[in-house]
Amino acid sequence: MALPTLAGIMVAMPEFVDPTSRLMTSFLAAVAEFRADLDYPVPWFVDDVDPQALVDPAAFEAYAARVLGERNSSSVRPGFVPMTTLWWVDRQRFLGRLAIRHRLTPALEKCGGHIGYDVRPSARRQGHATAMLAAALPIARSLGISQALVMCDTTNIASQRVIEANGGQLLDITEQKRRYWVPITRS
Ligand SMILES: CC(C)(COP(=O)(O)OP(=O)(O)OC[C@H]1O[C@@H](n2cnc3c(N)ncnc32)[C@H](O)[C@@H]1OP(=O)(O)O)[C@@H](O)C(=O)NCCC(=O)NCCS
Repeated sequence: MALPTLAGIMVAMPEFVDPTSRLMTSFLAAVAEFRADLDYPVPWFVDDVDPQALVDPAAFEAYAARVLGERNSSSVRPGFVPMTTLWWVDRQRFLGRLAIRHRLTPALEKCGGHIGYDVRPSARRQGHATAMLAAALPIARSLGISQALVMCDTTNIASQRVIEANGGQLLDITEQKRRYWVPITRS
């Protein structure tokens, strides 16, 4: 996507792309940042990267294909539901990722919800998570989700703000989570 500036110059805006080996270098740099991050626990998706994909372009291509394949119920792992993973990218720079679980399970209702997201440490506090969640809502709608269950740890003030900025209505506060319904029709 590109927006015109006042001077008429086109400025690239971050956008979602499908996981792709084209972004291997930037994605792996982000993985290293997530691992070194002292502010948050290492996100689940970082530990889910196939170890060989960290060093081998062919294995990275296979990893990206695996993540893409998780959209189809025929190729999800046991205990998983189909999930659409999208990468938030500014030109060649991987900024973060977001995953939409196509349906809830009792486990996801307690922990995980429909949508999860992570922004690489060097790209935080620039509005990316808020913009990513907003951009994900029409996609969730196209997957048949009419309101998205989105949750964050009770201590995660940034994620709480992201959800509330996207219209999240507080459902409840459990021992560890603030759970919200995010309306999808408003986007
Ligand atoms: C939580 C996270 C996704 C926020 O990403 P981000 O791109 O920095 O978020 P945004 O820039 O859209 O900021 C959203 C709001 O949180 C605030 N914020 C961001 N980081 C913050 C922090 N460390 N402490 C307090 N507020 C913070 C921003 O100022 C902004 O507030 P505003 O809307 O009132 O201006 C990111 O820190 C992250 O990936 N953390 C690790 C993984 C994680 O927690 N994922 C979410 C799981 S529910």
